Amino acid sequence: VTGTDREPAVHRPLAREPRQGDAFGQMLLQAYADGGAESAESEIVERDDGLVVALPGAAYFAPPDSWSPPVRWAVAQARGRVLDVGVGAGRYALEAQRQGCAVTGLDVSAGALDVSGRCGLGRLRQGSVHDVVEVAGDDRYDTVFMLGQNLALLGSPDAAPHVLRMLHRVTAPGGLLIGDSRDPAVQEAHHRDYFRFNRSRGRWPGHFTIRDRYRDLATPWFDYFFCTPDELIGLSAGTGWEQVGVKTRGATYAVVLRRTD
Ligand SMILES: C[S@@+](CC[C@H](N)C(=O)[O-])C[C@H]1O[C@@H](n2cnc3c(N)ncnc32)[C@H](O)[C@@H]1O
Repeated sequence: VTGTDREPAVHRPLAREPRQGDAFGQMLLQAYADGGAESAESEIVERDDGLVVALPGAAYFAPPDSWSPPVRWAVAQARGRVLDVGVGAGRYALEAQRQGCAVTGLDVSAGALDVSGRCGLGRLRQGSVHDVVEVAGDDRYDTVFMLGQNLALLGSPDAAPHVLRMLHRVTAPGGLLIGDSRDPAVQEAHHRDYFRFNRSRGRWPGHFTIRDRYRDLATPWFDYFFCTPDELIGLSAGTGWEQVGVKTRGATYAVVLRRTD
């Protein structure tokens, strides 16, 4: 091989895929070490169309007076035994705990659970919302949180009714499901091509596939599904949940569902 036959290195793609691991948890651990709300760490989110966005890690430590009015309204309705699905650093769980609730944090991320424990959350469970029945065992909850846009952990239009039924199984009669999300119809312009791409592959516009990155780490790809409050009513039909309140601010909304039995 002569020098002229060699492919110029500059044209080569990534030498290898990132290592798979707890990218979000490692980011939170570093943000916590930096002082939480003072940290300059960024959460790096990659979408399957190549979009990469950086979000402030400090937001996961933000105090209640900085939350949007719909989220403050939603968190104030927590009662009894609370399961916070995708607890992160625990900003909402800790507030519910301060309100007198007995809060359990559930997260796939060991690093997130480590941080929420250091921040003062007493009960922690590692696992996915998709395994919530097994993770809960005999425990029943009066309130489930899916906050920080975690209603999107319903995953997809196909998965959402199944996840809602599983959450029904782990709640007590009269239980509440409190979540927040973004209305995909009022998302920023840079999402519009993705909505078209999703329609072209037979998906709902707000059905995202994303992963978190941190340094050379990446989480596995996972589905994160943004739907409107009305679409949520349709998806929750027959799952044992009814919508009893919704508050909107711009593209974001918080919603409260209550068990119908
Ligand atoms: C956007 S953050 C929200 C964190 C927290 N709720 C907050 O708002 O501060 C999403 C969280 O959900 C967790 N997560 C992602 N997929 C999950 C799954 N399938 N089951 C449970 N938690 C998950 C992530 O590790 C992360 O902690």
